[in-house]
Amino acid sequence: MLFAPMSGEEPRAPNYWEYIRVEDLLSLQGGLENDESKLENDEVLFITVHQVFELWFKLVLREMISVRDVFKADVVAEQEMSEVVRGTRRIVTILRRCVDHFAVMETLTTRNYLAFRDKLMPASGFQSAQMRQLEIIMGLHDDDRIPLGVGEDYKDALRAHDGSESPASRRVRAQKDDMPTLATALADWLTRTPIDGKSPGDAGADEALDAFVETYCAAAASEIDQTCRLALTRTRDADDQERLRERYENEKKSIRDFLNPTEEEGGERRRRIRAAMLFILSYRELPLLAWPRELLDGLIELEQAFVIFRQRHARMVERVIGRRTGTGGSSGVDYLDQTALSYRVFRDLWAVRTFQIRAEATPELKNAEFYGFRNG
Ligand code: HEM
Repeated sequence: MLFAPMSGEEPRAPNYWEYIRVEDLLSLQGGLENDESKLENDEVLFITVHQVFELWFKLVLREMISVRDVFKADVVAEQEMSEVVRGTRRIVTILRRCVDHFAVMETLTTRNYLAFRDKLMPASGFQSAQMRQLEIIMGLHDDDRIPLGVGEDYKDALRAHDGSESPASRRVRAQKDDMPTLATALADWLTRTPIDGKSPGDAGADEALDAFVETYCAAAASEIDQTCRLALTRTRDADDQERLRERYENEKKSIRDFLNPTEEEGGERRRRIRAAMLFILSYRELPLLAWPRELLDGLIELEQAFVIFRQRHARMVERVIGRRTGTGGSSGVDYLDQTALSYRVFRDLWAVRTFQIRAEATPELKNAEFYGFRNG
């Protein structure tokens, strides 16, 4: 309430240091001793870099929730799409800056870090509640998490030492109650995508979906056959040729399987979602699909930025502590590399890249005018 005028008073002109709370901010790097003068520069750097990351996470979280909120609505207005895309771009820009910050941490040599590392035990970035909130709001399932190897699960590590609730565990619990995830909200929106001009619930909507899936699979198969023929002319070895034929046949099967998921994989709902992704990306130049396609590309960019963040963190960790056990008790770099490899939320969006075909080979769109500019 620094600048709130008393009733009847003129608002006071702010100072930079008051508005930014500079003195408060600069008083937070004293570590466990709460006294910066007792710390080496290396430790102040270690604390400050983590704090900078937490501040960026805070902004990313706000943007992510705003994006999710737009998709939570039953109807997403076209004019909201550009704001959402801007939000995803901001997230990507921040995450890319975060990745650069790891280089600052790497100015810490192994021995510099070892000088104060033991006193952190068992504190670890593993206890970053905001990182967990980000994973949760995006849609990472608890079942997909890599076990740390100590404690029951990641939520355990967020509790206070006596097992009671902590600010970190409260944050994460509140995030878990704040549903839907971005992935679910996005999937709900995708199920409503009109295919060949027909939205679910319209007469002929199911037939339009079936027709799109069929014609797309046929077009993709013909593209794959063409690529296979070309590949076969480039190899003379009969065994290799056989292997190639098999590989391309599998590609054809995998696109059919992708567009016809089993009940276990999510059945009709998943089928519509996957078809919608391919539809939007296939006819991306049409005005009504322009922002949706920007969004789908933006989400891939966003998840890619997270993956790169995880990989870069792992390489920084390898450089600073080698392959020793983490302060949080995990296997360290091995654990981090596994998360970088397997933590994915927008799996179908990634998979679609395998199944897209050349623009010239894309089946002709029925009802193209439905996706055009509207007058009046
Ligand atoms: C010298 C610097 C650092 C080292 C040696 C280090 C090491 C580690 C290790 C070994 C882990 C695995 C968990 C464990 O057993 O402790 C971990 C997890 C983590 N660290 Fe770091 N870290 C460093 C800096 C940072 C920085 C600057 C951040 C930025 C916020 C960060 C964020 C995280 C996060 C979010 C996790 C959890 C990853 C997950 O569970 O998916 N770390 N760190």
